[in-house]
Amino acid sequence: MYYIVEHKYLDEVLSVIQLFYFGEKIIQVEQILNDDIVIKSSIQENMSICKIYKDKKEIVCCKNSLENMQEDGFSNEKKRIIKLTVFEAIQKIRPLNMPWGILTGVRPTKKINEMLEQGFSKEDIKRLLKEKYLATDEKIDLAIDISKIEKNILKNNNKNKISVYLGIPFCPTRCIYCSFTSFNLSQYTKKVDLYLDCIEKEILSMKDYVNSHQIESIYIGGGTPSSLTETQFYRFLKMIDDNFNNPLVEYTIEAGRADTITREKLKTMKDFNATRISINPQTMNDKTLKLIGRNHLEKDFLNAFYMAREEGHNNINTDIILGLTDETSKEVIYTMDKLYKLNPESLTVHTLALKRASRLNENIESFNPSSFYEMEKMINITKDYAKKMNMYPYYMYRQKNMIGNFENVGYCKDGLECFYNIQIMEEKQTIISFGAGATSKFYFEENNLIKRAFNVKSVDEYINRIDEMIQRKREIIGGKI
Ligand SMILES: C[S@@+](CC[C@H](N)C(=O)[O-])C[C@H]1O[C@@H](n2cnc3c(N)ncnc32)[C@H](O)[C@@H]1O
Ligand code: SF4
Repeated sequence: MYYIVEHKYLDEVLSVIQLFYFGEKIIQVEQILNDDIVIKSSIQENMSICKIYKDKKEIVCCKNSLENMQEDGFSNEKKRIIKLTVFEAIQKIRPLNMPWGILTGVRPTKKINEMLEQGFSKEDIKRLLKEKYLATDEKIDLAIDISKIEKNILKNNNKNKISVYLGIPFCPTRCIYCSFTSFNLSQYTKKVDLYLDCIEKEILSMKDYVNSHQIESIYIGGGTPSSLTETQFYRFLKMIDDNFNNPLVEYTIEAGRADTITREKLKTMKDFNATRISINPQTMNDKTLKLIGRNHLEKDFLNAFYMAREEGHNNINTDIILGLTDETSKEVIYTMDKLYKLNPESLTVHTLALKRASRLNENIESFNPSSFYEMEKMINITKDYAKKMNMYPYYMYRQKNMIGNFENVGYCKDGLECFYNIQIMEEKQTIISFGAGATSKFYFEENNLIKRAFNVKSVDEYINRIDEMIQRKREIIGGKI
């Protein structure tokens, strides 16, 4: 599939094309020289025009006026009209009922919360999302329900409350779909202690600032934090315990992969008062687990889960991904049935996103993505199971290039929302972050502004430039402690 963009809104056009052509090669060209499908977006005489050619012949032409545009508070109107024109044109040759219409942003609930704050009524928002952005009723209701839950949590935010993130960017092997900052442990064994020395230095440099606030939540993510050895894992959690006050609400540790979890590490997490842990199957089907390179089987996940229960972990989250290699509704029912019996406290359902830096993308030719209709079925299966498990959706986000333009949804049992997940999505609280690839967000309530401090992603660079990482945060807080 080829496309031509004759204006500066290339990202907007591409984001719509990707909705319909998931997993296919999409190539930008200058002229219609190809016999394949070519989508051309242009602006002429104040009209947004999208034409589609096949075998060099025009087969579709859609136009929308760019005159008398009225901003709606949701997005830039010119961009919206350009996206809408491309969307309407492609729909004529691929008539798919896109659940979120032309909404391609990552955080629909953030926008809804902001609009509610500005005085828009829920009905106004519903109408706007349906009529101008073509989102479906079901997704609009989901987003509005979630924003209500989030609002309840966000209303208690204040200047004095912050959250803390710490990242361990190592994993035993790399899963084929992943593009997170994660380094193969076997190649970095010698550097892990050095990494921990550096993160300790970073913690010490910020501890007074952090402790002068109330820490609402601590979140340890990755990579896979539990891929540290038992001694390193203990050292790391002790370092956090020694330097930061106890969090007010929650302390989450992403144990993640079952192949890294031992009884000793589960005990250590309990001893240092972790209140919520994640153990992620992604799928319960061994065939898929092998295909995605996770290095653990269903039985390993079950063992880790039971062991966690035995060690007293009573708030366990489980992540799954829909659309994994060769999976259909049948495999998803199998996974959900097992999870239903295990009865975790929360469940996060992801739609597979094709990440540029993933192994899956490198071998895209051999990947046969699930169809839109199959994805829809699988999403509905997880939704029904979550309900049966007495869970409700409490947070949601979207990513670029997800199969079928769906979403990721976090479900939880009553009152067990992960505050950190909500804060990271809604961006209304300062989050101080430590480790390679971690981004600190300093939120200034007065002007609703965020200043970010980025840590470098490479472990080697992080170790070599640790003083610079510290300085980047200190520059934002100035002399303030
Ligand atoms: C920060 S990741 C890592 C968690 C942990 N290392 C693990 O893999 O169990 C959090 C979750 O994002 C999801 N995820 C990662 N890559 C994804 C992708 N390309 N598409 C959809 N979901 C993805 C997985 O469910 C994963 O558990
Ligand atoms: S274990 Fe998690 S972070 Fe590591 S490669 Fe797999 S998905 Fe990525």
